[in-house]
Amino acid sequence: MKTSFPKDKIEVVLLEGIHDNAAALFEREGFRVSRHSGAADPAELAALIASAHVIGIRSKTRLVGEALGAARRLLAVGCFCIGTNQVDLVSAAGAGVPVFNAPFSNTRSVAELTVAEVVMLHRRAFERSSQMHAGRWVKSASGAHEVRGRTLGIVGYGHIGAQVSVLAESMGLRVLFYDVIPKLPLGNARQTGSLDELLRESDVVTLHVPATDGTSGLIGAAEIENMKPGGHLINNARGSVVDLAALADALRRGRLGGAAIDVFPEEPSSREAAFRGPLVGLENVILTPHIAGSTQEAQASIAEEVGNKLLRFVNAGATTGAVNVPEVEPPPQRGMVAPGTDERPHRILHFHRNVPGVLSKINNAVSDLGVNVASQTLRTDGEIGYAVLDVAPSDGEQLRARMDAIEGTIRTRVLW
Ligand code: NAI
Repeated sequence: MKTSFPKDKIEVVLLEGIHDNAAALFEREGFRVSRHSGAADPAELAALIASAHVIGIRSKTRLVGEALGAARRLLAVGCFCIGTNQVDLVSAAGAGVPVFNAPFSNTRSVAELTVAEVVMLHRRAFERSSQMHAGRWVKSASGAHEVRGRTLGIVGYGHIGAQVSVLAESMGLRVLFYDVIPKLPLGNARQTGSLDELLRESDVVTLHVPATDGTSGLIGAAEIENMKPGGHLINNARGSVVDLAALADALRRGRLGGAAIDVFPEEPSSREAAFRGPLVGLENVILTPHIAGSTQEAQASIAEEVGNKLLRFVNAGATTGAVNVPEVEPPPQRGMVAPGTDERPHRILHFHRNVPGVLSKINNAVSDLGVNVASQTLRTDGEIGYAVLDVAPSDGEQLRARMDAIEGTIRTRVLW
């Protein structure tokens, strides 16, 4: 009986101090794991990943042309973070290498910070704290409010916005939200018909939209003028969404009461680089260095989310959650023995160029070899197609050779 590639021969290279949970996951599976605390320069990277089947990186490792070319055995890449700009996604897809990330593992972390900022802004707590650091004891209730009964306006009611909604209501806030698509309101939240309606009615507005052409400059001078006098603005989304000069002006004039800003149009690339911007020095602004999603819990959950996606691809061929190849969720693997034989069914994974006729050639190969197909899934997306077939009984190697010979084939892999 043929077996899959032995698990103890699968090499996983984890860079940039990825959380322990990822290594534990792969080790439990029997894979070989090597761990490195920092990012690698191009030469180190090429050496490290020459024999890797799976590589895990965060945002500092650039996996582009040469580095990818050196990784001849590479099956999959895990970005243990949100962004995937550091990877040449097109080249990876062209080599049949799916890239996975963790877009939602830090949702709760962002939501918690946002709700905390709603309270801190209403209590002017950071201003009082800065004053004390400067030796001043400003014991006063002036401008300080409970959040109970106040109105929170959430712009972008996706994963984070919806979590903020639930947490805020539990503290007695009235919640409005604005989204470009109709969304099911959670609890007693209400979707407004326009952004202006939300801005006019909210004591505090929090932004949870992605960076897109449609959200660039979404909150500028005109929108700020539509907000309640003395209202607050929170941006834990992306720096492109708010016009910071207009915001600074409104804060200086007392048109707005305060702001909490975590993301900026230009962010320093390292700890050594200085941070500058129109909000620096304004006491009523809570500034944080893009850390809304950065918690130990989020890191642990990223390790598990990306680790599991990689495991499911290596073990079962699932590309669900991949950012650069078609997503295929194959049916559960059947560990059964094929009828009348001692052979277990094979799962064939076939990445190919999305050109006409590949599916019929796959079907011809299968029928020429008298193979019984238990299930077959094909998805195409732009340039790339991905087919997963469960076949029985068959000689996996013979079928692989036939599949490899199909014009447009990028890579064929046989499981068990
Ligand atoms: P999501 O994709 O689940 O939700 C985004 C929502 O915004 C969707 O409901 C979408 O329909 C809506 N939307 C898009 N364009 C809009 C517009 N012009 N007006 C109103 N609504 C619009 O995204 P998720 O997970 O909730 O994250 C939101 C953003 O938060 C992310 O795109 C990311 O940029 C940012 N983020 C920031 C972090 C930080 O550390 N500061 C950490 C994690 C995410």
